[in-house]
Amino acid sequence: MRLGRNDACWCGSGKKYKNCHINFDQKIEAFRDAGHIVPDHSILKSPEDIQGIKESAKINIACLDYVAEHIKAGVSTLDIDNWVAKITADMGGVSACLNYEGFPKNCCTSINDQVCHGIPSADDILKEGDIVNVDCSTILNGYFSDSSRMFIIGETTPEKKKLVEDVKKSIEIGLKEVKPWKFLGDMGNAINQFCMSQGYSVVREIGGHGCGKEFHEEPWVSFVSKPNTEMLMVPGMCFTIEPMVNLGNPDIYEDEDNGWTIYTEDGSPSAQWEIQLVVTEDGYEIITY
Ligand code: MF3
Ligand code: CO
Repeated sequence: MRLGRNDACWCGSGKKYKNCHINFDQKIEAFRDAGHIVPDHSILKSPEDIQGIKESAKINIACLDYVAEHIKAGVSTLDIDNWVAKITADMGGVSACLNYEGFPKNCCTSINDQVCHGIPSADDILKEGDIVNVDCSTILNGYFSDSSRMFIIGETTPEKKKLVEDVKKSIEIGLKEVKPWKFLGDMGNAINQFCMSQGYSVVREIGGHGCGKEFHEEPWVSFVSKPNTEMLMVPGMCFTIEPMVNLGNPDIYEDEDNGWTIYTEDGSPSAQWEIQLVVTEDGYEIITY
């Protein structure tokens, strides 16, 4: 159904369409007509939605801040899971990981050559030199937040340390491309180019995602994409940037026994950071980090 100029705008502002999103929609339609992938209204977040996601993110960030302070050699990944479970519950939230498609724990913990979706376990004790990703996803009042950070246990090799730092840097480089009326491919390409320039490879099969009213929403976000491709970015889009970057080749495989954990095919270390952001009128605002 097409909205009339005097109808109430779809965004819920209560204003007439002609005084609200009509020009915005026409601009999007022009990109669609030119053959681009454009966002549906259903994934655009209202100011109230963004407020709700930010409240959820307070819990998400608190979990990772706690992990940052307490992670060290001798801690098991189950200990980390217990911290995340307790903080999330104490702050009134729910883990989005727990029971997600049968996932058995409250967060993902991925060590060294584990690329992502490692399952916390009492058997996995962190040791000096490990690099580990802790990925937290939180629900509060129906709003989803998602972020992950890398932690280095004690001293690690210069190679692994640089990988961890460079993946974080790649997100900063990608963020420079996040602006309304640019494309997700501009951002993904910037990340891929930088990672390749450092001799790394970026995982192709797993990427970022829209996030906010659902855990995983449109769009899917690639970090090996090309400029001027993938979805048009517009204000109100909320998604994650979470490149998985391997020191060796990009190939990965899934653990056959648990059906979750992803490893590098060549056994090389892998690192990932994840942030969540919302596209604003003139750039972006970071929601989780
Ligand atoms: N947090 C991950 C992401 O960034 C998803 C993990 S799904 C889980 O999208 F079930 F493994 F927790
Ligand atoms: Co994510």
